[in-house]
Amino acid sequence: MYLQRRNRILRSNPAIRSLVAETILTPSDFIVPLFIIEGENIKEEITSMQNYYRMTVDVTVKEVKELWNMGLKCVLLFVKAKDELKDNKGTEALNPNGLMQRSIKAIKDACPEMLVMTDVALDPFSSYGHDGIVENNEIVNDATVEVLAKMSVSHAQAGADFVAPSDMMDGRIGAIRKALEENNFTKTGIMAYSAKYASCFYGPFRDALDSAPGFGDKKTYQMDYSNRIEAVKEAIMDVEEGADIVMVKPALSYMDVIREVKDAVDVPVSCYNISGEYAMIKAAAKMGWIDENKAILETLTSMKRAGADLIATYFARDVVRLLS
Ligand code: PBG
Repeated sequence: MYLQRRNRILRSNPAIRSLVAETILTPSDFIVPLFIIEGENIKEEITSMQNYYRMTVDVTVKEVKELWNMGLKCVLLFVKAKDELKDNKGTEALNPNGLMQRSIKAIKDACPEMLVMTDVALDPFSSYGHDGIVENNEIVNDATVEVLAKMSVSHAQAGADFVAPSDMMDGRIGAIRKALEENNFTKTGIMAYSAKYASCFYGPFRDALDSAPGFGDKKTYQMDYSNRIEAVKEAIMDVEEGADIVMVKPALSYMDVIREVKDAVDVPVSCYNISGEYAMIKAAAKMGWIDENKAILETLTSMKRAGADLIATYFARDVVRLLS
């Protein structure tokens, strides 16, 4: 057989394959989500997220130092608020001595170089488990945005490097930027969850924080998974309103959206490899049906190939181990 072009030449051994690889993962691609609880010296496994834990602040601080030494440079904080602190106004979210604010300070004190991002949304603090304030069974936009802006300033005050609004209210990025400016937080970044879809794959996360919505679903604020163009609109508007980084979430079922957003904006794009995506790999691996390590590398590489500059993932530790 005579062939002018033989594509298999570039696949013929590991050396040439690595020479021509278009996508290469490195530790600084990853954001490590952390779940923080009240108390001391507790590290408890999340049932639906095998080998992932809720930790008290003291344990979290040790973890963060370890992560930094592994080459990971960014953490994203979520807190589990006690039930008695939940209400319909986000009171606890604004508490200067709340669990989030204390966690930020403790981490920045212990490991000042680690970039600290914080989740900004009301669901962990909401008696309804919704990301915003509820009136007559509706999640009201403008009153919620006011609280989110104050919450962001409170996180900045505690020392957060980036706030990460995950709520999907309209106009919140502009309001947060304005509030940060007015309070002289000119160095605080905003990573906007710009295209966050109403997904069934958030289940294990809601177990982790006990934050499932008490009524209805999140479809009046999170996006419809039928839509792609709408994601571009959301991302462009967030950039115009002052977002430094935009995010697509979830990741695995939304690779086309990641690419579309990447091509449309001039800021870094992140994606969130969410809890249900983690749980699926863990469960299949436990059954012996897939190779966990290979699945981690393949899915994370695909996300970067799709256009993600940054990836928030519960596999951050594993992937750094696999890369070294
Ligand atoms: C809520 C929030 C959610 C996640 C991050 N922030 C869940 C939700 O919207 O119900 C999900 C993350 C994951 O599933 O890993 N503001």
